[in-house]
Amino acid sequence: MDRYAVFGHPVRHSKSPFIHTLFARQTQQQLEYGLADPEPDEFAAALRSFFAEGGKGCNITVPFKEQAFTLVDSLSPRAKLAGAINTIKLTDDGLLLGDNTDGAGLVADLKAQGIILAESRILLLGAGGAARGALAPLLAEGPRTLVIANRTHDKAAQLAQRFTSLGPIVAAQYDALTGPFDLVINSTSASLQGTLPAISPTLIHDDIAVYDMMYGVNDTAFNAWARERGARKIMDGLGMLVQQAAEAFTIWRGIRPGTAQVLRELKRNLG
Ligand code: ATR
Repeated sequence: MDRYAVFGHPVRHSKSPFIHTLFARQTQQQLEYGLADPEPDEFAAALRSFFAEGGKGCNITVPFKEQAFTLVDSLSPRAKLAGAINTIKLTDDGLLLGDNTDGAGLVADLKAQGIILAESRILLLGAGGAARGALAPLLAEGPRTLVIANRTHDKAAQLAQRFTSLGPIVAAQYDALTGPFDLVINSTSASLQGTLPAISPTLIHDDIAVYDMMYGVNDTAFNAWARERGARKIMDGLGMLVQQAAEAFTIWRGIRPGTAQVLRELKRNLG
């Protein structure tokens, strides 16, 4: 049976085995999908062994996405732009192809939830790996403007410069943000600490959609705050998780799984 796995540390709470097992059942693919949790200094060796022992493909999660980027034989254009990978496929000629499906997963989930990105005014909070992976796919949708803001402004300014040839992206300081925006995406990890990016509450109004890339059983801190402020639509990162997995599955197996049922089961499982 073809073998796949997710590499992370720690990785035991990963939803990827659950998601890919459901995708495989739905599309009648024979495969098994496991967990790999190497110590950080053993990641490269563990990845080599996995493929030497017959692995066909894997996902990569925190904290290995940047290191994995340096270990593969070739990279997709979007992976090069992201500077990190979350998916590896062993090609027929024995090469490791690195890809990054996170940003495509975000865009697919936004669209599935009825968000129109073309000509929209987007505010992206955060300038870490998650933001970097999202930028090219978001800009490819043709927003009117994409403002990137980060606690450490320099990082936002660097990303704006790096992606400027792909669309209308500008960096702004948190305290200098002026809307209105149609969509705010929180790619920071602030919700993990139960805190909020220090942006003005007046940016959140009743005609705005809000997306936190984090997720949990309840609203994230950011989404709870936006809900209190009356945001018209509140989304969390669970849909992005399923969509990035569907994209990886398609790369490996050449068949695109449906996501709606899997997302429903995952929600039931969380709650
Ligand atoms: P990831 O890969 O999840 O993006 P990362 O690369 O470590 O993780 O980036 C974390 C992001 O969350 C950064 O934009 C970080 O801001 P800084 O660049 O200023 O560190 C942001 N972040 C983390 N905690 C935050 C907080 N409490 N408030 C605001 N931003 C926060």
